[in-house]
Amino acid sequence: MQATNAKLKQGRGVIERYREYLPFSDSTPIISLGEGNTPLIHCAQLSKRVGRGCDVFVKNEGVNPTGSFKDRGMTVAVSKALERNASALVCASTGNTSASAAAYAARAGISCAVILPAGKIASGKLVQAFAYGAKIVAVNGNFDDALRIVRELGERDGFVIVNSINPDRIAGQKTAAFEIVEVLGNAPDFHLLPVGNAGNITAYWAGYQEYYARQRTRPERQSNGSTRLPAMIGFQAAGAAPIFHNRIIENPETVASAIRIGNPASWKQARVAIEESRGAIDIVSDGEIVVAQTWLARHEGIFDEPASAAAIAGLFKCRDSKDARYSFKEIPEGSRIVCTVTGHGLKDPDAMQEQMEALIPVAPVTSEVRRLLGL
Ligand code: F0G
Repeated sequence: MQATNAKLKQGRGVIERYREYLPFSDSTPIISLGEGNTPLIHCAQLSKRVGRGCDVFVKNEGVNPTGSFKDRGMTVAVSKALERNASALVCASTGNTSASAAAYAARAGISCAVILPAGKIASGKLVQAFAYGAKIVAVNGNFDDALRIVRELGERDGFVIVNSINPDRIAGQKTAAFEIVEVLGNAPDFHLLPVGNAGNITAYWAGYQEYYARQRTRPERQSNGSTRLPAMIGFQAAGAAPIFHNRIIENPETVASAIRIGNPASWKQARVAIEESRGAIDIVSDGEIVVAQTWLARHEGIFDEPASAAAIAGLFKCRDSKDARYSFKEIPEGSRIVCTVTGHGLKDPDAMQEQMEALIPVAPVTSEVRRLLGL
């Protein structure tokens, strides 16, 4: 029996760990794949690059069950959908939401329809939607068109939208902030993350605020409570930066297909998070994103997808560029900085296509191999 209990504990997802912070009753069914509890990795090379005695940590959400942070929100949204007797889920997606929704729907035994912008989904994510058995519709349009259609389909009987316009998604995603506070013993000074539909920056800010409020009102409940709030710094891709430019972008374009979004659903909430936390919204170019993605893989052993690399590119920009909205040149020595890696690099192998194609095989002869390795 003991072994079984230990096993159960190991697989505990965010609902079991944070039930008291979530809209759950004892009778809510739990659909979980053991999401959350992801590593917060101290990055020595990144810290060195920022300098000033700062410590940079990566919250690696790429190791969630379907390879992105979406699983935190999906476990809550799908469990609540079941509580309401839903028989089908629907979402629009740039790829990760659809992968996650399809997996949790399969686990719940209900169907899942995903509306995707045709030709704009990284192959690793599209493969997931097929594998988990979603009903897939590709539209000749962008993510914003797909989300408009999902909204028009609307909430009908037995049918639940699981995009981040569903508050249960945000509730689940805020648990990432809880985990960070618990590991660091307090909130960091800065939190950097990519911004697309703007649900995640909204969720993190909600999570940090909630732990902060609890610490003030019920310190005895929390030995690892938070006595401060971080500045939230969001990064959009330069070709898909509606919040930065303060206008809808009709034809968003970026190599970071996950954040190719021109009219984010949680635009207002993201603005509130940035203003209340005295943070910033900034942009990074596709070139900077690709460089940051490679840099992180080669210096820290963390392979993230291009959208996630926007946060790392943003960190470099804060450190190096005069144009940065937030300059780390003036931050206090010893600041703690957290960057969220939102999705795994394997999701988007197309990004490395050129390098893979350049690999020409040689004869299976040691001398040939030696020559190529320069030995
Ligand atoms: N990073 C990744 C890997 C994402 O998949 C997304 C969003 C974001 C960052 C941005 O997060 O939308 O909360 O601001 N992906 C959504 C999707 C839009 O459909 O998978 P956000």
